[in-house]
Amino acid sequence: MKFAARLGGIRDQTTECLVVGLHQGEKLTGVAREVDRLTGGAIASLMEKGDVTGEESQNVMLRDVPGMACERLLIVGLGKAEDMKLTTYRKVCYTAAMRLNKIDCRNGVFCLHDIEVPEADMSLRVRHAVEAASDAVYRFDQLKTKSNAKSRLTKLDFFIHRRNQMPDLKIGVKHGGAIGMGKKFAKDLANLPGNICTPSYLADQVKSLGKSHPLRITVLNEERMEKLGMGALLSVSRGSRQPAKLIVIRYAGGHKNAAPVALVGKGLTFDAGGISLKPAEKMDEMKYDMCGGASVVGALLAAAEMKLPINVVGVIPSSENLPDGNANKPGDIVKSMSGQSIEILNTDAEGRLILCDALTYTQRFKPDAVIDIATLTGACVVALGKHASGLMGNDQALIEEIWEAGEDSLDRAWPLPMWDEYQPQLKSNFADMANIGSRYAGAITAACFLSRFTEQFKWAHLDIAGTAWQEGDQKGATGRVVPLLTQFLINRCT
Ligand code: BES
Ligand code: MN
Ligand code: ZN
Repeated sequence: MKFAARLGGIRDQTTECLVVGLHQGEKLTGVAREVDRLTGGAIASLMEKGDVTGEESQNVMLRDVPGMACERLLIVGLGKAEDMKLTTYRKVCYTAAMRLNKIDCRNGVFCLHDIEVPEADMSLRVRHAVEAASDAVYRFDQLKTKSNAKSRLTKLDFFIHRRNQMPDLKIGVKHGGAIGMGKKFAKDLANLPGNICTPSYLADQVKSLGKSHPLRITVLNEERMEKLGMGALLSVSRGSRQPAKLIVIRYAGGHKNAAPVALVGKGLTFDAGGISLKPAEKMDEMKYDMCGGASVVGALLAAAEMKLPINVVGVIPSSENLPDGNANKPGDIVKSMSGQSIEILNTDAEGRLILCDALTYTQRFKPDAVIDIATLTGACVVALGKHASGLMGNDQALIEEIWEAGEDSLDRAWPLPMWDEYQPQLKSNFADMANIGSRYAGAITAACFLSRFTEQFKWAHLDIAGTAWQEGDQKGATGRVVPLLTQFLINRCT
């Protein structure tokens, strides 16, 4: 999808659809008022008759409006001005883009970014419109023989009154376009089924990104991991015929000597639970167990697209978790790369096993901060639902920085406590620690497990088990937490 600015008069905007916003229960303002004036009161008369109210997400389409060059005029409801929030604005942009796409418009001109939204300047408003539109046109139909829902909307322009609005608009388009691209890449990878998206496939896809973008990719095979002593990671892939991969992505946009931000993403391409087999219901959704890894790839892609002046390294441990005669078993004790031994009490708690070795490996990059991202626990979904990612870590300032990035990007995360009191749940009679705690506070004890491998650096953990995909008829990957991670990197550059 392409995005650009449109200058000039609103009357002369040639487009298949011009989109303007309208507040509920108010006099016409801004672009809507101008359009009303140019059309001899077209909007006001609809308001009088009650056909248009400005109610949130109401949208009314008019054709061949006299006095206007556009083919159609879409009037979208914004709700009450005093209730305006960034989330509302974003939702409205999404519904408008959906509508345009549904009626087969190939292009449109948005005026929605003209609306005042608390705590969101012009560039942020444009960015969210770009992102929302990219979400609205997203389809995953590459595996259908006949794709019936082709998206037609391929060009969206933003109307501006004055040339001096151009720089803000450009920043919005640049950030929104990059995040949109990162999200799409992450969603496509995540929506692919386990029989296609294996660890090797994932590694190859990332390698191909390295050809089109300034990203340096290296992939470690099992032999290398064996030499490094990654006994925890390798114990997970034992039950799979697909070899595990450790994918490393380096983006060097910053100063040569600047310590990088490290992003470590769980790349479990299918999680059947292993010998501690999961129930059949919804097991298909465990193809999304690589969403942490996918969001790391997406964020690095976005950073490279924006040419951010920062150094970032992505580390993605990738494996399958399947039952097999050779698979790890409850009671097995393995040695991690850190030297600590782990008693595997449940083979379904595999994410932390592959992450702990990846985290230890990350130390070699002397990172300034490390963030791991993982669809780690069902318990996190119970605690926070599907709106917020769980946020924990060993450095309060880093946790706050991530929280803030979540708010700005509308890809929100919320802290859970990680007090020492939770740690004893991981006691084992036979090894340095067990890989699970009790039935309580599962999201926290999972983070406690990881904390034992991150003492050497500033570290935060995002549990995206609830946020990474949607269920129901819109089932599919969400592309989260690409926006949060990208925002975090943007904020570090300003
Ligand atoms: N990938 C799952 C976590 C998960 C579950 C994500 C449901 C999304 C939805 C993870 O590997 C897992 O199986 N975790 C176990 C941990 C338990 C055995 C301590 C879980 O959450 O049940
Ligand atoms: Mn599992
Ligand atoms: Zn898992």
